[in-house]
Amino acid sequence: MSVLTRLLATLGKATGILTLLVALAAVLLTYFEDADPVKYTSMAAEDMKTLEENFRQQNKSCFILGASGETGKLLLQELVERNIFSKITLIGRRLLTFEDKAYANLVQEVVDFEKLDDYAAVFQGHDVGYCCLGTTRAKAGADGFVRVDHDYVLKSAELAKAGGCSQFHLETSRGANKNSSFLYLKVKGQVEADVEALDFDRYSVYRPGALLVDRQERRPAEWIALKFFKALASVGSTSMSVPIQAVAKAMVSNTLLQPEKKSEILENKDIAALGKSAKK
Ligand SMILES: NC(=O)c1ccc[n+]([C@@H]2O[C@H](COP(=O)([O-])OP(=O)(O)OC[C@H]3O[C@@H](n4cnc5c(N)ncnc54)[C@H](OP(=O)(O)O)[C@@H]3O)[C@@H](O)[C@H]2O)c1
Repeated sequence: MSVLTRLLATLGKATGILTLLVALAAVLLTYFEDADPVKYTSMAAEDMKTLEENFRQQNKSCFILGASGETGKLLLQELVERNIFSKITLIGRRLLTFEDKAYANLVQEVVDFEKLDDYAAVFQGHDVGYCCLGTTRAKAGADGFVRVDHDYVLKSAELAKAGGCSQFHLETSRGANKNSSFLYLKVKGQVEADVEALDFDRYSVYRPGALLVDRQERRPAEWIALKFFKALASVGSTSMSVPIQAVAKAMVSNTLLQPEKKSEILENKDIAALGKSAKK
């Protein structure tokens, strides 16, 4: 047997073993999957079109925090394509450039998140707020992470509420829990609770699992984890990860729905289901 044939055989075996390991992990992980039934279902294209038309006629405006990020940019794309708002404002720390003419009417506000009180006017007069803001502990350190993922988010929500915003849609994370001993999940849970206390007329929290995304920025640990989650998703796991497009679609589609309660939490499975809503 030539060296090449032997190498291919070894690779073949390694791939087989890896597939087997992933399948085994998938079986084990089903024990940790959300037991709750899926509360949201995908919608037919025609129903969605009617909802979009009704919403459009209300001439509402919205703002997005984090529109330069992976979820935020897809959320923006979805909002621009579906054209349900008469005005979209991006609030961020830097000006973004767009080639596409469809983005020409966007309003951009550049703020210093450390001095948000100085920018209260920027948050006035929006009906709906979307927040996809976030950093990582690796990038910003523990304090910096809390500052962005909790303090900036909460302060923005406070200013938006004071400025007349009635709906707030916040992306947090699967497992968010203010009592968690893990900083990430604790901060996500804390910010969820603190924004809820502001008492928006409508408050929707989105808790995706691992975001399946080809991220532009290099994050080696996330890259390795994503390989694993993609493999898991391919063998049927639905509560651990979600394609990032589904998060953006779910956030927009959910805006069109009338929730039963003022506050709602969409878990990963709900996001995946609602994010499948058809579009013609
Ligand atoms: N990655 C995952 O698998 C995962 C899973 C579940 C939940 N989440 C959560 O989902 C949310 C969105 O995640 P993502 O991966 O789409 O986000 P992302 O691509 O990392 O984008 C984050 C956004 O936050 C802004 N931002 C970060 N640090 C900032 C700072 N110091 N000041 C002002 N703005 C700042 C970024 O602006 P610049 O472009 O200017 O940096 C960007 O717009 C986050 O809250 C994240 O924790 C992520």
